[in-house]
Order: sequence, then structure tokens, then C-alpha cells
Amino acid sequence: MSKSASDALVFFGATGDLAYKQIFPALLAMVGRDGCELPIIGVAHAGWSLEQLRARAHDSVAAAAGKAGGTLDEAAFAKLAAQLRYIDGDYRDADTFTRLKAELGTARAPLHYLAIPPSLFATVVSGLKAAGCADGARVVVEKPFGRDLASARRLNQALHTAFPESAIFRIDHYLGKEAVQNLLYFRFANSVLEPVWNNRYVDRVQITMAEAFGVEGRGSFYDGVGAIRDVLQNHLLQVTSLLAMDAPIGSDPAALNAEKLRLFRAMRPLGPRDVVRGQYRGYRDVPGVAPGSNVETFIGLRLAIDTWRWAGVPFLIRAGKKLPVSVTEVVVDMQTPPLAVFDPIDVTRSNYFRFRLSPQVVIAEGMRVKRPGEAMLGAPVELVAHHHAGSEMTPYERLLGDALRGDNALFTSDECVEAAWRVVDQVLGQEDLVHFYEPGSWGPPEAAVLAGAEGWHDPQPALAAPG
Ligand code: BG6
Repeated sequence: MSKSASDALVFFGATGDLAYKQIFPALLAMVGRDGCELPIIGVAHAGWSLEQLRARAHDSVAAAAGKAGGTLDEAAFAKLAAQLRYIDGDYRDADTFTRLKAELGTARAPLHYLAIPPSLFATVVSGLKAAGCADGARVVVEKPFGRDLASARRLNQALHTAFPESAIFRIDHYLGKEAVQNLLYFRFANSVLEPVWNNRYVDRVQITMAEAFGVEGRGSFYDGVGAIRDVLQNHLLQVTSLLAMDAPIGSDPAALNAEKLRLFRAMRPLGPRDVVRGQYRGYRDVPGVAPGSNVETFIGLRLAIDTWRWAGVPFLIRAGKKLPVSVTEVVVDMQTPPLAVFDPIDVTRSNYFRFRLSPQVVIAEGMRVKRPGEAMLGAPVELVAHHHAGSEMTPYERLLGDALRGDNALFTSDECVEAAWRVVDQVLGQEDLVHFYEPGSWGPPEAAVLAGAEGWHDPQPALAAPG
């Protein structure tokens, strides 16, 4: 597959939530930034007209601009609206794809974005193939990619019937985040880290994805998924792979992917005793959630990575809704000095690296220095290497732009997705083991056991970036 740019964008699920929240705002940003002149064809089965789709697109970008505290670029929207086309049709009906083929006209390399539930992937893919719309084309698919290892394999097989692996772009929007890319860059663009980045110096690694909000507005989706499928199998295991992988041989996406895959395969599959599930009180009252639901809104776990580098180092991972803050943070705790020459040193947090991934990008190192005075007594200080508010480009804008250019560096491969499912596969479907927690707490008390005597590192609330 050559890396020529796509010459049309088709998005299925044009009237849906993902298009509203992410795709239209990303398209507007692309049009505003560099023109992005290509036909953009929405497909859905809603009985809509093109004018209705344009009105929906306008609502979407106006809402996104309002949320970001900015004003809508009406000139860019007018350009986007002029590029929009719409096909209303049932995905099971061959005629929908015949009309799509006609609308594509002379386009030879369309990008098809499947912003639809995975249960419809196979139907749409076979429709595209039968109508000749898959030839020379690329396809973008969203998470959740499957519900478990077996269904992910089936989805991969369905996609491969019409698209080679090099033409498949699986989105995990975490990989499009500036902070996540910086993690990779920081690790492999500095020589000081590598000698200590192993079980001789690292005591443990913690990753916390805390969200202060609940699942209001998406109860029925979330209740069919839960935290393991929603954020652990994808976002958090991806972050783990970037933290723990060996250096790729060069910047070629295939080299990066090969190292990530080796790391995923070294993650020891989780068993029931490695995880603690939680559900916040009040979750069952959210519209769309089943009254007696035991789906987890919190997951805490202890992961082992069976490599020479990481043997014996626990990777403690937590993600939850309705926690005290909205912050995603990684803390790599280093071992204490072998001998306390001066004052006794606190076993936890003596030296550490802290990577805040959201809402800002922060890289910091915890050290000890001497306090002023006669005694050789120390105090902890934190050296902040990097602190900024983030990127003005959203992950979706970046990833959609990359997919249109055919650059798959920030997308996940079939093998990596399946290897990540293998890690969680045995702990899916054990909802009866859920523990309850109070909204605004750090999850169920039972999760404390996972972190041992040192306890979890609770991220502090977000601070404003320096001006
Ligand atoms: C999504 C999950 O993939 O990621 C959500 O479905 C979660 O439940 C979201 O809130 C977090 O992403 P971000 O970019 O807001 O940190």
C-alpha cells in the first residue's frame, strides 16, 4: 500500500454521537488549518437530508467551540459544509453502497471511517467490498475493538476480507495525545533514563486514570462495556507498553510496533486475584444502566511483565469514574539508596519520575536535598522538567490527518490489539465480584491491598500551566 493521500473521506455513522463529538470538530480544525480539500461523504440510516446533516455538523462544531472557550470559525465551517455529501441508506442494502460508489466518482483511494458499533463492521465491510469501494481504500475503526479476544479475532478476520493490514487504522485516541507521545520521546531521546529503567532501580510503576465525572449521558453504552473494556484494555495498556518497551530500532512505525508487541506479549495475563473491581454508589440510577448492574466503573490491578528488565516490578494500574479529581498520571518510584547515610529516608517517594498525561503535560523528577541548617537532614523536592497546557491539536484531528496521509505510526495493529485482549481476557465477565465505593473517593477500600504497605499515589488536582 503506497502512502499516497486519500482522495475522499467517507464516514459511516454520520448522524451518531462520535461524529458529533469528535469527527466534525476534527474536520473543521483540519479545514481551518490547511484546507483539507476533498469530498467528505457521511453515511447513515436516519432518513435525513444533506441539509439536516449540515445543521447537525454546525451544532457539533459550535458546541465544541463553546466547550473550548473559543468562537466558531464560520468561514471554515462554510468550506466544510460545501464539501459535505450525504447518503442515507441501510448498511445491509447493496444499493447504499452502489450510491456510495457513484458519489465517490473519480476518487481512487477513499478513507472509510467506521464510526459505528463493531457489530456492524462486518456488514459494512462486505458492502464496501461488493460495490468495489474497498479497492485502493483505507479503513479507520474505533475502539472498543471487540469485547474479548475471540471477538477481536473475528473482527480482524472480517476486516481482512476486504483490506490488507496496512490499510487498517485502529484508533486509540490516547496514542494521539501530545503527552503520550512525549512519554515515548522522553524515554528514548535521553540517555540518563535507560540505565536505571529496569528492575535494579525501579521499585514499582503506578498509573492512575482518575475521572471526577460519572457516566451520565452514556449509561447504556457504558453498562455494556465497563472500565476494563472501556479504558484498560486499550488506553492504559498502551501507556504501559510505551513506558516499559525496549527502544525501537529507528523511527519506522513497524519497528515501534514490533517492540510494543513484544512487550504486550510479555504482560502476564491477569487472574481474578490481580484485580479489584468497583462501582460507585448511584451508578445504577443512571439512565440506560440496568437496575441490578454489576458492571465496574473502577478497576485496580497489579500487572507483572515477564521480561529480564521488569521481572519483580509491579505495575499498579487504576482507572475509575467519580474519583476525587480528573487527572491521568504515571509515577515510576525508584528504589531507596542502599544505605541511609544521613537521615532515615522515607521508603516511598524518595526518588521518582512523574508523568502527568492529562489534563496538562508534566514531566517531573522527585529528589531529596539537604535542608538549610547544621543537621544533615533532607527534604523532598520535585524538579519539573516540562509543564505545558497541551497541544492545540486534538487527538482526533491528528489521527484523522495521519490516516488520510496513510501514516499508521499512531495506530494499533491486529497483533497488538489481540495481545492486549489476551492480558484481560480471563478477568472479563466476573461482575459478581464488584465492590461499592462512594462518589468522590479513591475507589473501593479493597483496592488498597493491591498497592501493599506503600499505598497508592493519589494524584493532586490539576494546576494551571505556567503562563
Ligand atoms: C474514552 C472512554 O475512550 O476515553 C471514556 O470511553 C473516557 O470513558 C475517555 O472518559 C477519556 O479520554 P480523555 O481523552 O478525555 O482522557
